[in-house]
Amino acid sequence: MNILLTGGAGYIGSHTSVMLLESGHDVVVLDNLCNSKAASLKRVEEITGKKILFYQEDLCDLAGVNEIFRQNSIDAVIHFAGLKSVAESVEQPLRYYQNNINGTLVLCEVMQANGVKNLVFSSSATVYGNPETVPINENAPVGAFNPYGRSKLFIEKILTDLYLSDKKWNIALLRYFNPVGAHLSGLIGEDPSDLPNNLMPYISQVAVGQLQKLLIYGDDYETPDGTGVRDYIHVMDLAQGHLKALEKLNSGPGLVTYNLGTGKGYSVLEMVAAYEKASGKQIPCQIVGRRPGDIPTCYANPCLAEKELGWTARRGIDEMCTDAWRWQYLNPKGYV
Ligand code: NAD
Ligand code: UD1
Repeated sequence: MNILLTGGAGYIGSHTSVMLLESGHDVVVLDNLCNSKAASLKRVEEITGKKILFYQEDLCDLAGVNEIFRQNSIDAVIHFAGLKSVAESVEQPLRYYQNNINGTLVLCEVMQANGVKNLVFSSSATVYGNPETVPINENAPVGAFNPYGRSKLFIEKILTDLYLSDKKWNIALLRYFNPVGAHLSGLIGEDPSDLPNNLMPYISQVAVGQLQKLLIYGDDYETPDGTGVRDYIHVMDLAQGHLKALEKLNSGPGLVTYNLGTGKGYSVLEMVAAYEKASGKQIPCQIVGRRPGDIPTCYANPCLAEKELGWTARRGIDEMCTDAWRWQYLNPKGYV
């Protein structure tokens, strides 16, 4: 198949490109590089020995997106493009709604006009807000509490309305838990352009000496060791989930929603210990107050994806940390 990846130069998109190319698919990438570098795609080509057709384009530009569909026979789209910082979304809500929602509207309009109706969307566990119970099922109540999370939730609703209006669409809403790790080659990985917001890239930058110490946001949660518990998933397992979702869409399922997580939760302190073991480096830490908007515990029930996609995450936290560390020490300043 010829697959269009919006936001394909980013962290999850570059790893998914490797998986798609190695499975014999062709990959077209649309990315405006607002949070990534074209070097990631060169590295994907180096890993796979295959070419990617890259368009540096903004998803909100209808004419530009339409031209990509005119020039290529696209079979399906994986829609990664979006802004993803929670803190930034609180400061710049209009920019987040404009980019994430308008970009999706443009994409769907162009897909519809060109008769392409198979779509995989990057949603997030953030749509569950503060879950009442864990593990979280797909039918748990939703309710995000920041503009980033709400943009994901609104897009899920828009895609649901689109499907209800035209049942020829096949749409997979993939709710990712916490993607971490990197490709085994150490050639591609997560490369935050600013100070990392998320735990794993922050730990990595402390380990490699770019940052002095990790601030642990709270040790007074109702969790076994008091620090926050999350479901970390290896980015290559996540990439594999996209391949399985694309295969599923070919069977004409309509609108489907899947959690992509491991089903296991690890605390901040457990992640630090695993990273220290993998890297052989000590991670200086300081306990500070809770980060506003954080929840105590979040992990998936991934059984639906196992049953309907035949997909499960295979890699554990030691492999996640080893691969993240390999990427970080081989590329201490990311792609530059
Ligand atoms: P990323 O920032 O590395 O990748 C997103 C890509 O989209 C970037 O390359 C960026 O340049 C591009 N982009 C953004 N707006 C665009 C626009 N208007 N036009 C064209 N390109 C645009 O992020 P990622 O971690 O790879 O995440 C991919 C998707 O998965 C995002 O939608 C994100 O919200 C979602 N997600 C990520 C996580 C995570 O922790 N990484 C968790 C849940 C969901
Ligand atoms: C964050 C986002 C969420 C998004 C997810 C994946 C917030 C409030 N939530 O969630 O919307 O879907 O990333 O991109 O930003 N931690 C530290 N020190 C740090 C960083 C994190 O102690 O420097 C802790 C956090 O308090 C949390 C855990 O590590 O307990 C994981 O944090 P993070 O990687 O930011 O992911 P989420 O909190 O799940």
